[in-house]
Amino acid sequence: MSQATLFALQTDCRAHIACQDNLAFMRPLKSGVMQLIVTSPPYNIGKAYERRRLLQQYVEQQAQVISECVRLLSCRGSLCWQVGNHVENGEISPLDMVLYPVFQEHGLHLRNRIVWHFEHGLHCSNRLSGRYETILWFTKTDDYVFHLDPIRVPSKYPGKKYFKGPKAGQLSGNPLGKNPGDVWIFPNVKNNHVEKTAHPCQFPVELVERLVLALSEPGDCVFDPYMGVGTSVVAALKHDRIGYGCDIMKEYVDIAWDRIGMLRAGMLRTRPMHKPVHDPSLPYGGHR
Ligand SMILES: C[S@@+](CC[C@H](N)C(=O)[O-])C[C@H]1O[C@@H](n2cnc3c(N)ncnc32)[C@H](O)[C@@H]1O
Repeated sequence: MSQATLFALQTDCRAHIACQDNLAFMRPLKSGVMQLIVTSPPYNIGKAYERRRLLQQYVEQQAQVISECVRLLSCRGSLCWQVGNHVENGEISPLDMVLYPVFQEHGLHLRNRIVWHFEHGLHCSNRLSGRYETILWFTKTDDYVFHLDPIRVPSKYPGKKYFKGPKAGQLSGNPLGKNPGDVWIFPNVKNNHVEKTAHPCQFPVELVERLVLALSEPGDCVFDPYMGVGTSVVAALKHDRIGYGCDIMKEYVDIAWDRIGMLRAGMLRTRPMHKPVHDPSLPYGGHR
């Protein structure tokens, strides 16, 4: 049994996390065990947790990790790679474009290129400020798990009815709400966000929750190979999945364990999935 598994089993039987390089963590795991792999890798922009390298070397290193992820993915499973831009001398390389051929080589099927839009970030002076990143959602086969109902969002006109034809008078929309579409608006985790930890670029939990609910089922395994402070594992555990994750930085893994402990104790504060985003043009910012 690997050190990672030992470490995890000693602590929590539904959360398997370790301070370990992701290739070392993945190699002992059985093929096909993960229903959902969701992650945000380093962007090769020189953050404290990464070594900046030539873009080609970065892609080669990502290709090794992606290859192991594909091996671990179940036949009905999904792989979600959340990325922004690599930036060199003010010139951007969108990493979803750069990495897409790697996924294609594995014969994966791209189901959506989800745009995650947020309002906060660096203000650029020589180009427009970046206010979105993307999630490439791939499936391994055409027979994949997808549940729309748990992720429906309120319809714009919930009481709208057909006004003519055979369905006249009946509700025209789904009473459970509408498909959330492929542009997702969630605040990114900056200093005033309820989930903020010491990590400089953590996911909002609600973003991963949407993927967990749509692309996996209770009891399934969800894995994040660049786990950071364990956001994906928290989202998985919140919905009765089994969470796997690893990160090379002990500081982040320790925070991940703390967050899991607080979740178990009912004390972890996360931004609720359906909370509207702050709108300064409306009274009380659009919500109270
Ligand atoms: C963009 S952050 C992910 C943050 C995460 N989504 C969260 O919500 O906390 C990328 C993470 O990858 C980790 N990392 C970098 N190289 C790694 C490797 N070879 N194996 C595992 N983790 C690695 C970094 O320490 C960093 O925490």
